[in-house]
Amino acid sequence: MDARAAPHLPANAEVLEPAERLSHVYPVHSRRNESGRLEIGGCDVVEVAREFGTPAYVYAEEDIRERARGFMDAFAARTDRFDVVYASKAFPCTAVHRILSEEGLSCDVASGGELYLALRGGFAPERVYMHGNNKTEGELAYALDRGVGHIVVDSFDEIERLERLTETRQKVMLRVTPGITAFTHASIQTGQVDSKFGFGMDDAPAAIERCMASDRLELCGLHAHIGSQIFDLEPYERLAELLAGMGNYPLLNLGGGLAIAYTAADDPPTIDAYVETLLRAAPDGVTVLCEPGRSLVGNAGVTVYTVGTVKDVPGVRRYVAVDGGMSDNLRPMLYGARYEAEIADRPGGDALCTVAGMHCESGDILIRDVALDDPRPGDLLVVPATGAYGHAMANNYNALRRPPVVFCAEGDARIVVRRETYEDLAVRDV
Ligand code: LLP
Repeated sequence: MDARAAPHLPANAEVLEPAERLSHVYPVHSRRNESGRLEIGGCDVVEVAREFGTPAYVYAEEDIRERARGFMDAFAARTDRFDVVYASKAFPCTAVHRILSEEGLSCDVASGGELYLALRGGFAPERVYMHGNNKTEGELAYALDRGVGHIVVDSFDEIERLERLTETRQKVMLRVTPGITAFTHASIQTGQVDSKFGFGMDDAPAAIERCMASDRLELCGLHAHIGSQIFDLEPYERLAELLAGMGNYPLLNLGGGLAIAYTAADDPPTIDAYVETLLRAAPDGVTVLCEPGRSLVGNAGVTVYTVGTVKDVPGVRRYVAVDGGMSDNLRPMLYGARYEAEIADRPGGDALCTVAGMHCESGDILIRDVALDDPRPGDLLVVPATGAYGHAMANNYNALRRPPVVFCAEGDARIVVRRETYEDLAVRDV
């Protein structure tokens, strides 16, 4: 490999200093230790990789707790009528459920599987809100049997299905598609008119009437989720006003979607500013709910890979291939999502590299054009802000084994989800 062949950053390129990057996209209290290595949750990432192998999702437990408290405290300082509902699709993992139920949060599940994990992780059934645009009869029956607190009804078909299945009076909320288009990737916009989710503004009054007339359903409130990774808070104000104008109900759920920093360039609003906005626009006396996913767990986790090969295409680019890729992080491929990266014990650097996965597709690129310190085979590459929708959307493409989840706290690293084995890959074969 000839280092001189690799393109370098232009002299005027804006690159965040490693220390600034640490505080921006990495878990809280991350630092560089005396040996110059990245430390997360008090654990040396190089040691963690040595113990648990790579690729691995490595989380700082404290980060999740601090953000959960950030939401709870921001509400509690302003009202006693609120509920913070963890959108468990972001990281459906019993270890995180245990932490968040301890911190007093409720849980949003979007399938029978997420419900199973939420209950297993310690959420009381009555603190669970069940979502989905096409909950199956089996899933609804499971939710009813376990005594799920609220089912968020999404369609006329579902109202009928639920009335037929429930033997008691079931609390429901009604999901509205408010016709608000948030500025984010089209695949993660959900509030616009052309959406598979919820009741449009034209249908909502009839759906509300239908629920009110039912002796099986108790309509407790309205719900809307306008999308994900949203930086601009203004649409939330419009949303709260719009839903408030649709009638007086005890609960008002304004969904999730608060953006996080994936890169140095991202500057999301604070949790406090977000909560302030939700409450400002909500009518007095109503209990306000929000459903954060990414903003609770996204910055808590990093992915640690081992560099395997470095390939220079002279004058074009330098490919740095790692031992994972689109099987552990689909987001670059699905949404063109952008990430930072660095070598665990050599932060910074100015060799412009393209981080590639190991899958049999040219599109399996994790990061295009990221400045690294001259990566070499055997180096540990850390990609921050992979805590949400990484493990959640992991898959076995090319029969790769899904990575373990390691939780770090006060210098102790413990495995909470083990790495898959080759045997796991055949475990469902009959
Ligand atoms: N509530 C509902 C009803 C949702 O559908 C979602 C996300 C959330 C809350 C949580 O949104 P968050 O706070 O995490 O933005 N796979 C995509 C994200 C899809 C989000 C789907 N629904 C990604 O990796 O960006």
